[in-house]
Amino acid sequence: MYNRREFLGTGLAALGAASAATLVPGLLRATPAEAPRWLSAPRKLLILGGTGFVGPHDVREALERGHEVTIFNRGRSAPGMFGKDVEELAGDRANDLRALRGRKWDAVIDESASLASAPEWVKLSAETLRDAVDQYLFISTRSVYHDLSAVPMHSNAPVLTLENSPVPAGQPLSYGLAKAYAEKAAHAAMPGRVTVVRPGLIVGPEDDTDRFTYWPVRVARGGEMIAPGDGSDHVQIIDVRDLVKFCVTLCENRTFGVFNGIGPQGGMPFREFLSRVQKGVGGNPTYTWVDADFLREQGHNPYGRELPVFQVMRGRTAGFARFDLTPELKAGLTIRPMEETARDTLAWWKTLPAERQAGIKTGFRPEREAELLALWKTRKSR
Ligand SMILES: NC(=O)c1ccc[n+]([C@@H]2O[C@H](COP(=O)([O-])OP(=O)(O)OC[C@H]3O[C@@H](n4cnc5c(N)ncnc54)[C@H](OP(=O)(O)O)[C@@H]3O)[C@@H](O)[C@H]2O)c1
Repeated sequence: MYNRREFLGTGLAALGAASAATLVPGLLRATPAEAPRWLSAPRKLLILGGTGFVGPHDVREALERGHEVTIFNRGRSAPGMFGKDVEELAGDRANDLRALRGRKWDAVIDESASLASAPEWVKLSAETLRDAVDQYLFISTRSVYHDLSAVPMHSNAPVLTLENSPVPAGQPLSYGLAKAYAEKAAHAAMPGRVTVVRPGLIVGPEDDTDRFTYWPVRVARGGEMIAPGDGSDHVQIIDVRDLVKFCVTLCENRTFGVFNGIGPQGGMPFREFLSRVQKGVGGNPTYTWVDADFLREQGHNPYGRELPVFQVMRGRTAGFARFDLTPELKAGLTIRPMEETARDTLAWWKTLPAERQAGIKTGFRPEREAELLALWKTRKSR
C-alpha cells in the first residue's frame, strides 16, 4: 500500500492523470465520498504509547493510511523503533507532559493507560490536550462491565463503580474499575469529543501474553487435546490488526461514542472457534470435550491460565461473548476470519527463539493435559 505522502508527492505529481488512473482504478472518477479514506482524510495523530503490543500496530496502520504520527512515551520500551517516519516525544504520563504543550493534533489515541493510575493519567492528558486535539480516543476494555449476564450485551450496559464494586481501604483499583473511571475522566475533560473503544482479549502476531496463541500452537501439535465445555460457549476476541483499523477509522470519521472492540457479531461457539483455528494452522488433533465444572473442580477456571479465551456462557458471564455489535459494524469495525488470525499468529510464534517457544505461558502442560483426560474418562465411565 502507498503511504499517502509518498503517493501524492512522488506519485500523482509525477505521473500523468491517465497513468495514475491506471494505477489506482477509479481514483480520478471518484467523488470525495467514494475516494479511499487514506487519500481523503489525512490526519495528524498523537498516540500515547506507540510501542508495547498494540502501539506499533496502531502506528503502522496510521502510517499506511497516510496519516502523520507522533508518539508519546518514556522512551524505554523501544526508542527509535520507527526511525524518521514518526515523531517521538518523551515524557511520563504520571507527571511530565511538557512535550505535549503548545502543539496541535486532530486526534489522540490513548493506549497506554492501563494501570490502577489510569484515571489520573487520563485526567491529566485529556485536560492538557483539550484545546490541542478535536478528539480523544481512549482504548478501554470489556472488563469495565459490571454485569455480563445479559444476552445480547451492548455498550450501554452498567459499568463498574466504587458503589457497585467497593475497593477495600488501601487497595488499588482493579483493572476494570480503573478503566471505567479513566473513561469518566476523559468524558469530563472533553465532553462530546471522546471515543471509547472497549476491546476484549486482543490477540494476534506480537502478543506476548500467549493467551490466544496457545490454541493455534496446541491445535497444530495435534493428538488428543482438551476442548473445554461442550462446544457451545461463545468466543469474542479481536485481532490487534482489526482493533487498530477500527481506531484509525473512528479518528478519520470523527466518530464519537462508546464502542466494543470484539468480534464476530454475536460471538462464535467454541467448537467453531477450534475448527477455524485448525483450518488456519493445520494439525490433526482429536478434541475431547471436557465439562467446564469438572475442569474447575480440578483447579482450572475458565479464562484462567490454562484455559485462556474460554469462558462459560451462563450466569454472570452469560453475555461475556454475546455482544450485539451492530453499532460497531456501522461505525467501521471489520473482523478478519479466525483462520487468518490463527495462521498469522502461529507464523509469528515460529519466529521466536526456541527457548521462548518451549516456555509458552498459558494452556495445559502436556503431562497435566494427559492426566486430566484420564481422570475425565474415569469420571464419565462411572
Ligand atoms: N492486551 C489485551 O488483551 C487488552 C485487552 C483490552 C484492553 N487492552 C488495553 O489495550 C491498551 C494497549 O495495551 P498494550 O499492552 O499494548 O499497552 P501497555 O503495555 O499498557 O502500554 C505500553 C505503552 O505505554 C508506554 N508507557 C508505559 N508507561 C508509561 C508512562 N508512565 N508514561 C508514558 N508512557 C508510558 C510504553 O512506552 P515506554 O515504556 O517507553 O514508556 C508503551 O508505549 C492498554 O490500554 C490496555 O489496557 C488490552
